[in-house]
Amino acid sequence: KHISILGASMDLGQQRRGVDMGPSAIRYAGVVERLQNLGHQVTDLGDLAPPLSASNASESESLRNLSQVVEVNTRLAKEIDDIIASGSFPLTLGGDHSIAIGSVAGVSGHYKNPGVIWYDAHADLNTSSTSPSGNIHGMPLAAALGLGEEQLSHIGGSEAKLRPENIVIFGARALDDREKQLIKQLGIKVYTMHEIDRHGMSAMMAEAIAYLKEKTDGVHLSLDLDALDPQHAPGVGTPVVGGLSYRESHLAMEMLAEAEIITSADFVEVNPILDEKNRTAKAAVDLIGSLFGEKLC
Ligand code: ARG
Ligand code: MN
Ligand code: MN
Ligand code: MN
Repeated sequence: KHISILGASMDLGQQRRGVDMGPSAIRYAGVVERLQNLGHQVTDLGDLAPPLSASNASESESLRNLSQVVEVNTRLAKEIDDIIASGSFPLTLGGDHSIAIGSVAGVSGHYKNPGVIWYDAHADLNTSSTSPSGNIHGMPLAAALGLGEEQLSHIGGSEAKLRPENIVIFGARALDDREKQLIKQLGIKVYTMHEIDRHGMSAMMAEAIAYLKEKTDGVHLSLDLDALDPQHAPGVGTPVVGGLSYRESHLAMEMLAEAEIITSADFVEVNPILDEKNRTAKAAVDLIGSLFGEKLC
């Protein structure tokens, strides 16, 4: 495979500084070498330029740093679009999860029925009117559905980027009430920790893969490191106890590799300031290895 790595060093989609250093930490943990050792051709495109303006005095608490998040994601969508057009696999390193607005927007035009696996403790289905925090990293999946603030949902085109039935949320355990309502209303497929505990990762991931294989012609993996238990991924801004283990997550990536359904990916929310000896970035690189075909033996 030809893989293009792009750093989206954005931290304005939430309120803890440091997640803008995620791409550096993941590079330091050896992502390029890891992929090359698997036989892939890798181009590291470096980091997207940071947001232009630092001032947000006029902006609201229900959409923090809106203009900067819009500006960065508009550029990101274009970059991802170009990477796919060039025949390469776009691997985006976050940055907070607001960058998935741009990456999904950049991907969606290349498929008739784009799908997504949202591997996350959260659903990120809030809009400015439902968000408890005003943090845009809690809104990217809603924006991709065409919901909420149009400056976000219209990035890369005014159409909705995803259909609700082409979405699988995996690893969820911290959903806001309004997000639960929306999931029911739109019929979005969710594998919460309950289902994964009850039936096991193997069965649930197999089901998710079969579901997406039938419905979509391209699947974007958006992996928020907070899907993993904080024990294995402490360096994230919004940790939630009771998460997926390191091994379960490896199995998930190995199954996705075997199924050959993933056509683009982002690994987000790694915050080196909150991390312990770069463990979270290392976990990200280990998972990226499995996603791209690494075998234990
Ligand atoms: N649901 C909460 C909110 O809207 C938390 C979102 C966390 N999102 C994330 N990408 N870590 O603020
Ligand atoms: Mn999350
Ligand atoms: Mn619209
Ligand atoms: Mn998230």
